[in-house]
Amino acid sequence: MKDLSQKHIVLGLSGGIACYKAAELCRLLIKAGASVQVVMTDAATQFITPVTMQALSSNEVFVSQWDERQANNMAHINLSRGASAIVVAPASADFMAKLIHGRADDLLSLMCLARPIESTPLMLAPAMNKEMWSHPATQRNVAQLTQDGAFVLGVAQGDQACGETGDGRMLEPIEIFEELCDFFVPKVLKGRQVLINAGPTFEPIDPVRGLTNLSSGKMGFALASAAKAAGAHVRLISGPVHLPTPRGVQRINVQTAKEMHDQVMQHAANAEVFIACAAVADWRVKTYSQAKLKKTTEHQAPEFELEENPDILSAVAHGDRALHQELYCVGFSAETHDLVKHASEKRLRKRVPLMVGNVGPLTFGQDDNELILIDERGVKTLERNSKEKLAHLLISDLAERLPVFFEGKKR
Ligand code: C5P
Repeated sequence: MKDLSQKHIVLGLSGGIACYKAAELCRLLIKAGASVQVVMTDAATQFITPVTMQALSSNEVFVSQWDERQANNMAHINLSRGASAIVVAPASADFMAKLIHGRADDLLSLMCLARPIESTPLMLAPAMNKEMWSHPATQRNVAQLTQDGAFVLGVAQGDQACGETGDGRMLEPIEIFEELCDFFVPKVLKGRQVLINAGPTFEPIDPVRGLTNLSSGKMGFALASAAKAAGAHVRLISGPVHLPTPRGVQRINVQTAKEMHDQVMQHAANAEVFIACAAVADWRVKTYSQAKLKKTTEHQAPEFELEENPDILSAVAHGDRALHQELYCVGFSAETHDLVKHASEKRLRKRVPLMVGNVGPLTFGQDDNELILIDERGVKTLERNSKEKLAHLLISDLAERLPVFFEGKKR
């Protein structure tokens, strides 16, 4: 679960049927440890009551700029000071039109205008009918708001409450929540091209059987998400796993080691970082059987000849870009014993500057893990933690290594 403790979020609701989703968003913020102050427009109260939002936020809700509960009668100043961010969800077409003109005739727009623009970010989650969304006036307003420093989220596509189908639905609460969490992550990999492989590979024997490795893909997906949150362009080459694609990450699905190898080699050509998190099957059967292998009455088990799969990490790390220090490679090493010894040897053999070691059986399918980072100077431990947290720690660590590495670029 993402962490928003220490964060104070002002959650604004303007009028729209998507107001019902703001209740869920509020819950997600509270569950992640944030304190939440809800501010609603009059129109929003037509769709959801302040009572609901008060119960969910455990805080009084404000609707009017003339609210007498504020001793100085300046709710628009008091409520935004100390806020980590103002999130308006839903942001109606009318509300956004108002903001671009600096109009301030209700508490929410007044508060947005009166916020300290440098220190209080404003995030907007638009929600409206598809014609309203695609109207040039709305698109102009979105562009202007972005230019004025607001962070305008995209919209979702699909069925709309009005019965039409198209662009304009508000993003789901979990998506807005994740965008907000990512927003607070320092952009230590801003603009970097990061390539990650994750999950197992599956090497078919016949149409119903195959060789594979134990790997849920959770660590690789957590790394993709953390790298994206840190500002990187992330391409994720994934073996067969049951995980949703992190928002903003470009995912390519593969099945076999050979397919993974080909995709990785293609995309390594313009990557700056390659993180080899996949549990690649070391062997595949030499001859694939087109028909299902049948059991025999003699109880004779079939015999297979295996051949070795390409070592993807070695291939990338021994390529020109890595050797000329244009591409930083990170390997993973899952061991059952002598972790430091085996992972260190693997680092040298595969020729990568950083090898991340973990104890296989203690991590497979788990939500948490313990990692060691091995480089030419020695070993550093990242204590047991959630894979999400470890991914953020690893990405921060990596971000510190990159400038030094690229500085030493060989010509
Ligand atoms: O040799 P071993 O499989 O233990 O090495 C693990 C590291 O090498 C991981 O980073 C894994 O993704 C990578 N690897 C690979 N291609 C293989 C086998 C492993 O890229 N065929």
